[in-house]
This record gives sequence, C-alpha cells and structure tokens, in this order.
Amino acid sequence: MRTLSSFGIILAFLTFSSPAWAWGDRGHRMIADLAYERLTPHARAAVDRLTSGDVTASPGCGVNSFSDASVWSDCVRHFPSYRNQSTWHYDDIPLCGVASYAEYCAGGNCATAAIARADRALRENRGSPREQARALARLVHFVGDIHQPLHATDNADRGGNKIRIRLDGIADGASPPANLHALWDTLLVDAAIGTDTYAAVSTLRALGYSNAHAWSAGDVQSWIAETRRLGVTLAYGSLPVQVSCGAAPTEPERVDRRYVEAAVPAVRQQLAKAAVRLASLLNAIYP
Ligand code: ADE
Ligand code: ZN
Ligand code: ZN
Repeated sequence: MRTLSSFGIILAFLTFSSPAWAWGDRGHRMIADLAYERLTPHARAAVDRLTSGDVTASPGCGVNSFSDASVWSDCVRHFPSYRNQSTWHYDDIPLCGVASYAEYCAGGNCATAAIARADRALRENRGSPREQARALARLVHFVGDIHQPLHATDNADRGGNKIRIRLDGIADGASPPANLHALWDTLLVDAAIGTDTYAAVSTLRALGYSNAHAWSAGDVQSWIAETRRLGVTLAYGSLPVQVSCGAAPTEPERVDRRYVEAAVPAVRQQLAKAAVRLASLLNAIYP
C-alpha cells in the first residue's frame, strides 16, 4: 500500500486547513522554526527578548514567541490602523513585460521595501521595544512572503487571487482553496509539509544545512527575482491553459496532480530558503 502520497496528504488537510493570506500560518511558522534553529546565540537572545511577553500591543494578535512573530503581520492586517500596510506583503512584479520598481513598489509600499525598513530599524535599534518587536515581526513575515511565487509575480490579477481554479483528481471539495493564490498559500504548503510536521522539519532542515552558503548569497532583490521566476515557470507557467498578459482567464483553470507534483518540490525549497535567508539577515543584524 502506498502511504502518505502527496495526494493523501492533501485530502487529509483539506478538511482542516484554514484560509489565510500569504503563505498560510503553517508556512510562516515552519519558516520561523527553521530559522530560529540557525540563529547565533546572540541573535537568538535578541529575538527572544523582543518576542516574549507580547510587547506589540495588538489585541488578539499577541506575540509570545518567534513563531508568533511570523504570523503577526497577517493577524493585524484587518486592523484599521494597519490597512494601509496590506500591500507590504508582496511585490507585484508583472508577469509580462519589463518590471519597473517605481511602479510595482510605489511609495515603498511593497514587501522588499518593507523588509529594508524593518532591517534598518532593527540594525539601528531605533524606537521603543514595541516598535522593535513590530519591526522584527515584519521582517520575519515579509521575508517568508517574498518566497511565495505569487507574492513576487502578478498578472493584474492580485497575484492569482482572480484566477478561479477547479481541482481535478486532488480533493473531494470539502474546503478547496478559492483561487490560484490561495492554492499556493495553503494547499501546496500542506502538500509540501504533509501530516508528519516533525519529519518535514528534518527534511527542510537538512536542505537548509546543505545549501546555506549558496542560499544566503545575494540580497532581497535577487531573492525575490528568483521567486518571481518560479511564478513565471510554475505558478502561472504550468497552468494547463496559458494566461494572457494582464488578464485573468474567464474560465476556471484546472489544477491536477501534475500541477501539484511540479509545485511541491519548489515549495519545499522555498520554505527552506526563506528560513536560511531570514536567519542570515538576523545574524547580520545582531552580530
Ligand atoms: N493583492 C495584489 N497583489 C497581491 C499579491 N501578489 N498577493 C496577495 N494579494 C495581492
Ligand atoms: Zn503576508
Ligand atoms: Zn498570499
């Protein structure tokens, strides 16, 4: 008998996965757990200090661990005072044509600019502990987000949010993701991690360990450029019906085993990369 194929895993998770923005909570917490292990003692002490005893002052979105910090930006996203930050979760780099940073990151309101601001605020140790904790939470979350292909690629469809999907041979429809973007945030993460989170942690930890040096090279812009390529080749590129430039398809796209099987190794690698890079940023901030 075949045990725990990706598809068994998907079926198992469909019933209790919850909708979320960005990588869902599961993806962000996985990245945070893997990154935390890679922190130097000094960096670990610094992040422990900022993530204990909830200093963010955000009711219902308390941060009492590094893992909690990784999901804080999604949790506060609907607070009126944070609504203007909803575009900080992605860089809508166009699928087609030549990308202009000034356009897709107008006013610095995109993920890579938000990461740069948070990095600087932490480096300069600016502001109150509350502001430091919020900056850390942003850094942790947005570094995760820029590794989700549909947070780095857009076809005038809100990163695939406007692409309806039809699951074919994958799920029974218990609570299928509503669109292509949600598929990448949650179902593909569930397929990539599976039901045995502990086993997935060891696999991803080993991936990070073997590739840490290569993956830490470059900077936030080169990292998101790499993520965007996966958006082009996989998230959009392996759809059965190719999208037109700048327009969401009128019919739902079919997502089948082939699509999921192509995506899963990339999702695993993206989670592992995000963790390595997050740790490398934090180890540099707290040398
Ligand atoms: N809204 C617009 N672009 C988006 C993206 N890439 N991800 C999530 N929400 C979006
Ligand atoms: Zn996000
Ligand atoms: Zn998302």
